[in-house]
Amino acid sequence: MDALKCINTRRSIRKYKARKIPADIVKKLIVAGMNAPSSFNSQPWVFITVTKKDTMNKIASVKSQRSQFLKTAPLLIACCYDESRSKSPAHDLENVAVAVENILLAAHALGLGACYIGGFDPKFPDIEKSMSKALKLPKKIKIVCLISLGYPDESPKSKTMRKISEVLRKEHY
Ligand SMILES: Cc1cc2nc3c(=O)[nH]c(=O)nc-3n(C[C@H](O)[C@H](O)[C@H](O)COP(=O)(O)O)c2cc1C
Repeated sequence: MDALKCINTRRSIRKYKARKIPADIVKKLIVAGMNAPSSFNSQPWVFITVTKKDTMNKIASVKSQRSQFLKTAPLLIACCYDESRSKSPAHDLENVAVAVENILLAAHALGLGACYIGGFDPKFPDIEKSMSKALKLPKKIKIVCLISLGYPDESPKSKTMRKISEVLRKEHY
């Protein structure tokens, strides 16, 4: 698929067919994430693939808001960074977020549906703590978000987009 078409037609998919995602496709998703830019080329990301239902259920019980559909996904990817590889703490979240967008776009290009699941707000440390327990994360590995993935079983309705004139300023605000 043409890159611009891929970017402009990607949508969040929250309903999936039961069909498993083959290992070579999972590898392509991870490689797409690894090719993202990162501050000082630090590549601090760690991706944890989850396919076991009991782990998914634990995760769903921790992160209950707007994410129960994750239990039905054939694949979850927990997207984290390794604090010991961080060269600029200010960029930790950004580094993972750009890698996540690469994975979302790669998923779309490969005919998969995916959804970004955020909400690991430092203001709610209990969620992060329970998630670390469910995924057996060492202390230096910090979770940023989850991606749920599978072969799509829905076509989302068109979404409201802001007008370009609202978001684009030229030369100055
Ligand atoms: C930082 C972030 C957090 C998100 N968290 C959730 C979430 O917890 N649950 C969910 O269903 N969707 C979540 N989404 C997906 C958004 O709801 C979705 O991207 C938005 O509605 C636009 O729709 P689209 O992705 O189809 O373009 C999140 C997206 C981002 C970027």
